[in-house]
Amino acid sequence: MVEFKRISVAGENPYDVVIGRNLLAEVGLALNAAATADPVKKVLVIHPIALSKSAEVLKHSLDSQGFETLLAGVPDSEDAKRVEVAAFCWGVMGKSDFTRSDAVVGFGGGSTTDLAGFVAATWLRGVKFVQVSTTLLGMVDAAVGGKTGINTAEGKNLVGAFYAPSAVICDLDTLMTLPKNEIIAGMGEVVKYGFIADERILEIIEANPGQATDPTSAEFAELIERSVAIKARVVASDFRESGLREILNYGHTLGHAIEHAERYQWRHGAAISIGMMFVAELARLAGRLSDEVVDRHRNVLTLLGLPTKYDAAKWETLLASMQRDKKSRAGQLRFVVLDDIAKPTVMTAPTNEMLFAAYQEICD
Ligand SMILES: NC(=O)c1ccc[n+]([C@@H]2O[C@H](COP(=O)([O-])OP(=O)(O)OC[C@H]3O[C@@H](n4cnc5c(N)ncnc54)[C@H](O)[C@@H]3O)[C@@H](O)[C@H]2O)c1
Repeated sequence: MVEFKRISVAGENPYDVVIGRNLLAEVGLALNAAATADPVKKVLVIHPIALSKSAEVLKHSLDSQGFETLLAGVPDSEDAKRVEVAAFCWGVMGKSDFTRSDAVVGFGGGSTTDLAGFVAATWLRGVKFVQVSTTLLGMVDAAVGGKTGINTAEGKNLVGAFYAPSAVICDLDTLMTLPKNEIIAGMGEVVKYGFIADERILEIIEANPGQATDPTSAEFAELIERSVAIKARVVASDFRESGLREILNYGHTLGHAIEHAERYQWRHGAAISIGMMFVAELARLAGRLSDEVVDRHRNVLTLLGLPTKYDAAKWETLLASMQRDKKSRAGQLRFVVLDDIAKPTVMTAPTNEMLFAAYQEICD
């Protein structure tokens, strides 16, 4: 049985995020709905080679709906987000006379959908695309919001485009093969939405962390729906990241520095888990946040098995990394902090003493 929930993302180019189970047929329907003057004929499905079998199933479904489906198997994770891989996809499209009315489908985690969105944004100056996210992080974050991009030798996500998809499909059945550690890491972002906007998310996790991380449970589906609804609301009002969208960076300033210090071998969700703990302590020291809410951060993250402490000896490295990041954005050091649950705000240029004091609270 097909059952799903539809969340609209408003904006110049509005689209729906469809969340449910057994949703493969929705991809073709979304492609037909996306067609403007001419119908979509060819579809390029970009997928990690690791998901080749599932991509074949998707191809079969699309072919049976009348599309001519091409598959582009790309490397795993960050290895996909390279200009050589984008060029490989452009090559497949060029050789098969891909026109402006044809479409791209990104089928995979955030790295695949970031690449696929970028390929779609750049081919013939932009063709339609549908994101089919197969990771928790992809569903609640990467596939929604229209940020697409690839990495360069100098850094992550340095080349890309804001380019809205025609639809985002979150088929929870695809998560059945996703390793548990990827689910837990994705939960870092879910907790973030709980703290910045929706206390019910925290309550669901606190009530039963086992069910909350089980992709077959109703609780899990509700967590995804609630998270996507928040992301949809925020990106609808700030597509190009010039204001409100900054609140989505809760825990990310230190989190990015940790990812860098760990040479990107850590999962993003684990790094921002520590980052959230840090800004909670920072807000407490600044007299903004109660002990109770800070303790709730530690409790909910620990319940999920996410880390809340980091290496005392790494402070100088992390501070230098945050300063570098700040310089590259020609701005001051900024942290999204909370005044309370669902009351995010920005703290600008706290002193190094205050930052260090907050860090000491989260040291091993
Ligand atoms: N565009 C945005 O707004 C945005 C936001 C957040 C993150 N991102 C990007 O997302 C990327 C991280 O995404 P991710 O965490 O989804 O990682 P990922 O895409 O690297 O996927 C993680 C791993 O899971 C595997 N996998 C994917 N789906 C699977 C499934 N259903 N079953 C089994 N294995 C599966 C992948 O092959 C990979 O090995 C980063 O590149 C990050 O920059 C983008």
